Amino acid sequence: MSEKNLDFDTVVNRRHTDSLKYDFAKRRGLPEDVLPLWVADMDFKTSSYVQEALSQSVEHGIFGYTETDVDYYEIVKNWMKKQYDWELESIRWLVKTPGVVFALGAIVQAFTKEGDNVLIQQPVYYPFSEIITDNDRNIVSNTLIDDGSGRYKIDFDDFEKKIVENNVKLFLLSNPHNPGGAVWTKEELIRIGDICLKHNVIIASDEIHADFVWKGKHNVLVNLKDEYRDIVITCTSPTKTFNIAGLQISNIIIPNTVLRRTFKKKVAAFGYSQANTVGIVACEAAYTKGEEWLAAIREYIWSNIEYTKEFVDNNLTGVKMFVPEGTYLVWLDFSGTGLEDSEINRRIIHEAKLWLDAGNIFGDAGKGFQRINVACPRSVLTDALKRIKKVF
Ligand SMILES: Cc1ncc(COP(=O)(O)O)c(C=O)c1O
Repeated sequence: MSEKNLDFDTVVNRRHTDSLKYDFAKRRGLPEDVLPLWVADMDFKTSSYVQEALSQSVEHGIFGYTETDVDYYEIVKNWMKKQYDWELESIRWLVKTPGVVFALGAIVQAFTKEGDNVLIQQPVYYPFSEIITDNDRNIVSNTLIDDGSGRYKIDFDDFEKKIVENNVKLFLLSNPHNPGGAVWTKEELIRIGDICLKHNVIIASDEIHADFVWKGKHNVLVNLKDEYRDIVITCTSPTKTFNIAGLQISNIIIPNTVLRRTFKKKVAAFGYSQANTVGIVACEAAYTKGEEWLAAIREYIWSNIEYTKEFVDNNLTGVKMFVPEGTYLVWLDFSGTGLEDSEINRRIIHEAKLWLDAGNIFGDAGKGFQRINVACPRSVLTDALKRIKKVF
């Protein structure tokens, strides 16, 4: 058998499949016919190897409680080694959860208490702030610097100051960064890691977009210094990479025994024990046979990013694009249009009939921006960009 799902140009109809991206506009107060390029899943079929493995599982017909053992661990370990040169040293390091956001919720509950301050770097993936406030903790933001270069920078003095002044014990890191697309360099990560080490701050390092780093390799934070093992929880998952978010499987890597026990206790307290049966099947197939598909999808998405950049530069006056170093999310700065946020949103939703993610949901620093997901067929992307051009 060879990889079959390499046609990314064909539009697969996702409407009427209970797709969050396609079927919930009306319920969320938007016109029913908007073209959605918002939530971070792709409009492409996953690897045919994943599909085939799932078909076999369906054919088997029994979906009882399922647990993983050494085989699963070895598969995850091999992926980490091959993709990011990261050596997992023990099966005990690996804890499965039904998603990264679930894990972040457990981390917030396990390592902070009500009223505590949790550090994030806005603008950032909005469930970070939701998970903090939903748990009655407070958001402290080390707001990223937009210096006009089209790539966010970190204010490290402010980072440390915010930790000290707010007695921060937990920091949620997004790397590669959603929505800005920065892939933090080794130097940047070490400065972050060292400051957190100095002040005993636990880092939840959300590296879910690690397989979409466009130049060079992704740097796994915990891999940069041995000492980081005592403070870093790395959140990984095959779900972004292989477009299987609905199967809800993520691999949380925790080398430190105390951190791991505390985390596992919290997960157990939620009543979660065994992972989703087909999520496990999909993860194993993806990590063992999905590389050809991944190489092809990476090429396709990168060409969409380049196409978007050219389109924006040539057609959208007053709009500036952050060219992502990682992720399939493009961050567009509309502030040069001089329009208020509400007017930008109105034109996008009601005139262009598009569903993007408005920048302000990522925090105040996201005002004036829109996030657009370019993991779609080129024809869909072209349609969306032309619609934007028409109304700006
Ligand atoms: C940075 C980041 N973390 C986590 C997630 C979601 O992870 P999960 O579906 O495993 O909860 C996303 C999805 O968009 C994301 O962009």
